[in-house]
Amino acid sequence: MSTPQSEKWMERRNIAVPRGPYHVTGLFIDHAKGATVIDIDGREYIDFAGGIGVQNIGHCHPKVVEVVQRQAEAFLHPCFHVTAYESYVELAERLNTLIPGEFSKKSIFLNSGSEAVENAVKIARKYTGRQGVISFDRGYHGRTLLTMSLTSKVMPYKKGFGPFAPETYKLPYPYYYRDQHLTEDEIDDMFIKQIEHFFVAEAAPENIAAIILEPVQGEGGFVVPSKRFVKAIRDICNKHGIVMIADEIQTGFARTGKLFAMEHFDVAADLVTVSKSMGAGIPISGVVGRAEIMDAPLGGQLGGTFAGSPLGCAAALAVLDVIQEENLVERSRMLGEKMQARLRAMQKKYEIIGDVRGLGSMCAIELVKDRKLMTPAKEETAYIVANGWKRGAIFLSAGIDSNVLRFLPPLVMTDDQLESGFDILEKLLAEVQNGGNNE
Ligand SMILES: Cc1ncc(COP(=O)(O)O)c(C=O)c1O
Repeated sequence: MSTPQSEKWMERRNIAVPRGPYHVTGLFIDHAKGATVIDIDGREYIDFAGGIGVQNIGHCHPKVVEVVQRQAEAFLHPCFHVTAYESYVELAERLNTLIPGEFSKKSIFLNSGSEAVENAVKIARKYTGRQGVISFDRGYHGRTLLTMSLTSKVMPYKKGFGPFAPETYKLPYPYYYRDQHLTEDEIDDMFIKQIEHFFVAEAAPENIAAIILEPVQGEGGFVVPSKRFVKAIRDICNKHGIVMIADEIQTGFARTGKLFAMEHFDVAADLVTVSKSMGAGIPISGVVGRAEIMDAPLGGQLGGTFAGSPLGCAAALAVLDVIQEENLVERSRMLGEKMQARLRAMQKKYEIIGDVRGLGSMCAIELVKDRKLMTPAKEETAYIVANGWKRGAIFLSAGIDSNVLRFLPPLVMTDDQLESGFDILEKLLAEVQNGGNNE
């Protein structure tokens, strides 16, 4: 499918913009609505990327558009540190109640996911008086110096960008699909033992301020841990006075069939980072957590010029209303069931699908060249992403080996849109299964 206007703009983009910021598609957008994107050539695409997990309530939800317009007319930037506004406080009050954990909480707001993680670490360090931070293999926490240091995957995230922030450590995180010779409990035991070993071999627990984990790994390939593993991390944090940070930036706001993914695991983190779908496209992020930990930094030690902007707060309040009014938590569960059922049916037909996994509508398939050896089918995955949008459906990859297709559709995607998008996916799977390129 040729897209003449987008091609023309891509040529101009290549002259004016460096190659660093990548593109999943070759498209320039004209407008978007619900689960569809329309490009500047007037062509429509079913969107399984949702701005990389940002459009849980759907593109340009009228309620968000309305509150943003109203806010823009009232005031845009007094700066929270100069003149406070009610929406910031109201948003904090609502998230303090909604984030899992039966304890008193406080919230601060920022601009991006990375900035939220940076602040969560600052708060944990100040509270504990310790420096070390543990993250996990395949974890993704952002692209700033500290968050890049906490992130896995050398290419493209880390290569050439060192030296990395000191006092950051990585521990293994279970990957049940790739350890099939063991039971889930055996895998958990193995990983929990490695954490205990780490405290003997690498760093004293008294030097560790925080352990940060994604309740479902996002960029790492939608890897879902067991309840037992997440509870073990909670126990380790309790035992050693370490702050547990749940990074819900990709999993939050109804994506996993709960408002927040930690609800699946029956434990509460001390601090939770949120962003992405929080503002439905208006940049905003936050750290929500135990009041006594959040209060560790002194006045003036946290913040930023645009942090918790009026537009972001207004949009985030509207997002919480829409999730409730449109039953999007329930819709996420149902959409996830439909996606997984269709993906499992495809798995029966196409050997290349090694694994189907996910929580709620945070679903993925892992593609392998060979089911026994589980050799990552990286090129085949890239082929599907590169050709999906040309046939009318936008897909994203993920995974440390770039062999996972992850689906982050707006939760308002209709059943018909889902089936049409997955028809395109199925054709592409048939092509890669048969040795590829039918173009
Ligand atoms: C789990 C998680 N944490 C942090 C980030 C970083 O967020 P941002 O890109 O807004 O800085 C992301 C982004 O993909 C993410 O998925």
